[in-house]
Amino acid sequence: MDSAALWQRYQDWLYYHEGLQFYLDVSRMRFDQAFVEKMEPLLEKAFKDMDALEGGAIANPDENRMVGHYWLRNPQLAPTPELQTEIAKTLKDIETFAQKVHAGEIHPPGTSKFTDIISIGIGGSALGPQFVAQALAPIFPPLQIHFIDNTDPTGIDTILTKLDDRLSSTLVLVISKSGGTPETRNGMIEVKTAYESKGIDFAPHAVAITGKGSNLDKIAQSQGWLATFPMYDWVGGRTSEMSAVGLLPAALQGIDIRQMLAGAKEMDDATSKHLLRENPAALLAISWYFAGNGKGEKDMVVLPYKDSLLLFSRYLQQLVMESLGKEKDLDGNTVYQGIAVYGNKGSTDQHAYVQQLREGVPNFFATLIEVLEDRSGDSPEVEAGVTSGDYLSGLLQGTRKALYENQRDSISVTITQVNPRIVGALIALYERAVGLYGFLVNINAYHQPGVEAGKKAAAAVLDLQGRVMQVLKETSVPLSLSDLADKAGAPEEAEAIYKIVRHLQANQRGVVLQGDLGKPSSLKVVKG
Ligand code: PA5
Repeated sequence: MDSAALWQRYQDWLYYHEGLQFYLDVSRMRFDQAFVEKMEPLLEKAFKDMDALEGGAIANPDENRMVGHYWLRNPQLAPTPELQTEIAKTLKDIETFAQKVHAGEIHPPGTSKFTDIISIGIGGSALGPQFVAQALAPIFPPLQIHFIDNTDPTGIDTILTKLDDRLSSTLVLVISKSGGTPETRNGMIEVKTAYESKGIDFAPHAVAITGKGSNLDKIAQSQGWLATFPMYDWVGGRTSEMSAVGLLPAALQGIDIRQMLAGAKEMDDATSKHLLRENPAALLAISWYFAGNGKGEKDMVVLPYKDSLLLFSRYLQQLVMESLGKEKDLDGNTVYQGIAVYGNKGSTDQHAYVQQLREGVPNFFATLIEVLEDRSGDSPEVEAGVTSGDYLSGLLQGTRKALYENQRDSISVTITQVNPRIVGALIALYERAVGLYGFLVNINAYHQPGVEAGKKAAAAVLDLQGRVMQVLKETSVPLSLSDLADKAGAPEEAEAIYKIVRHLQANQRGVVLQGDLGKPSSLKVVKG
């Protein structure tokens, strides 16, 4: 296509949302009219499925759950008056709690104000809050947030050491929908232990965000934690940013959560339309379908040209891959669906992997995110008539053009500023696009059996570790790995046991390996 035809295609396909000052450009995805016509009936069905989901259908059949994240920003959509009231009440409770913390009406024992937050959670209970904190928190927020999103002891130590003398004025949010995720539980126990070792009472510093009746809920109630906020059964982890999971940390950091909700609602209104060209989520979903042939054959590279949106790619990685990466479709056929997502930020990545994007294996499509306003206030010139922001803009345009010229497709999202309203809108946009795409390829986008399988496998390893330690406790002679495996009742697990004892030895946990560490079969395991 020559440049005049491309300019025309740009104008033909440009989507603009006036209220949100949001642009979506799919003109550099090379689909044609025949593709659009082929997609229309599929899309119409996906729209209807999405309407049913919004209306309270059991859209997550495996877990027999409704999927109601849309109700969080428009409670009137919720299927019962009780739910509508509960959503509104939780929002009010979050605002009141944050206001009281800011005003010092809720404060830690012996100190006038909370200064910091430790947020403990993982996956959907961490990625949204992390993205929003980076995108929107003021440079000097009323409370500084720190995340523990892993069971890595060194990572936990880093946060605890950094906060050391501020622990007494740190509010601890423990976020887990199920209330039983081991990484989150471990983080909570380690943080509680750190408080106790300093003689600080943990409960007046601790807040739970969790499902009613979960283990975490029970712990919070029985120990008299400062507060508990609900996580609803009908909101999935990766779509929970507009529930207490995302809103409480945001409000505590001084982020305008009403604006986030308003932006998400505006986007929901736009993306519930049944017309492709008037629905940006549908435009994204069919573009993804086109790129990967409805089978995820191409990866999605997300490149926001704005430092504060750095974590958007990581947030989307989970939203898209945990939702769409499924072995079975809704009819039980083996389909191995998904779209791989990665990215970081422009122009930084132009000095890293964009070389491969431009010239190497063409197994991706890009999503470029542009923010029109460079900064608040004037910019100095870095060359005559040119600012740093002009460079950023030029580099984005240049990358889009260079990719296209080399047969690499891209989608461009343009926003005016990074503010709470547009961040809410972006979250809502991608939530809907993932939902629509899930329906287009006939999979359940709202469960995560693979994650559960990983958790079970980890529990089995820890169970084996327990048996190994028991055998060693009862044995006084050195044992080979295969003898140890036999005695632990797991003769096929010699490799797993080798890894367990190697880890125990490295941490001086009463196990010593004798022999050549590079030749596991020669090793003897002894107590020590
Ligand atoms: O999106 C999801 O459902 C998951 O990523 C969960 O958020 C994650 O496993 C953490 O679960 P929970 O909030 O129950 O601790």
